Amino acid sequence: MSRRKQHVPWTAAGTASEQQHSADDVVRETGWVFNNRTGRELDLAAFVETGDHETLAYLQAFGLDAGIEHQSLVEIGSGIGRMTASFSRMFARVTACDLDGAFLERCRETVAQFGRPERLQTCHVDDGRTLLIADASTDLAFSYITLQHCHPSDALALTREAVRITRPGGHVALNYRTWTASDAALWPAGKVVRGSFRVPGVGPMLARHRLTARVGWQANRLGPATVLPEVAEHLRDVRLVRSPQRSPFGVAGVEETTYVGVHPSHWWLIGTVR
Ligand SMILES: C[S@@+](CC[C@H](N)C(=O)[O-])C[C@H]1O[C@@H](n2cnc3c(N)ncnc32)[C@H](O)[C@@H]1O
Repeated sequence: MSRRKQHVPWTAAGTASEQQHSADDVVRETGWVFNNRTGRELDLAAFVETGDHETLAYLQAFGLDAGIEHQSLVEIGSGIGRMTASFSRMFARVTACDLDGAFLERCRETVAQFGRPERLQTCHVDDGRTLLIADASTDLAFSYITLQHCHPSDALALTREAVRITRPGGHVALNYRTWTASDAALWPAGKVVRGSFRVPGVGPMLARHRLTARVGWQANRLGPATVLPEVAEHLRDVRLVRSPQRSPFGVAGVEETTYVGVHPSHWWLIGTVR
């Protein structure tokens, strides 16, 4: 069993995804863990379309969309390939990384149907913090709504890993969640619920239930002041991208821009590897 209680809801959803016959059934049963949509009418095509709308929009917002047809991308936390299919159509090579091996199998299926499977590799992040990928081997390391689900030290380890695997001159685009007013209630509730995921009998049930999974699965709040010292010496042209609804982080010497597509509780670290 994995040592981290925050892995439980993901491995539970991964196991549930293995029990489904078709990829459309996987989306109906477990798709909500990725894009919070439910309903019997859902199918894989509609699920992938939600990713299609986000991939290019983010790359353009971050100024990372030029020349990507010749580039490689590593996606940290791919899930069942909601965005991976689109990335595989845009980039020459894509490596999808995830904590859950069953998600990666489904990701291959998603890319086979809606992307370019011959461009895809997968990487199982067995310990939740180490990427089995060579140093300086990718053009872009990208992660969306994943690092917020990791133990704080794992999120910081994956941040360092993202920089390690990116070639000099390549980029990182990494998404984090930080504090908002609603955390006064959400954060303590999340801690209690996460603790319950390990209780024999009831824990696995709570981890698979939509409401409790959602309350418990955000395992950290990380702001730029905590993340930047981990990697700043290896990056240049660092930029923080936040929601226009959020006040500036105000880190000395670090550029900040806003993008309407960023959730007010989220921020992105964009940087070029030295
Ligand atoms: C909310 S989903 C996002 C998936 C994808 N980025 C998307 O937008 O559809 C979070 C993903 O991160 C994965 N994950 C959670 N903790 C992880 C960790 N420590 N290392 C790697 N992947 C992790 C989960 O298994 C899940 O597939």
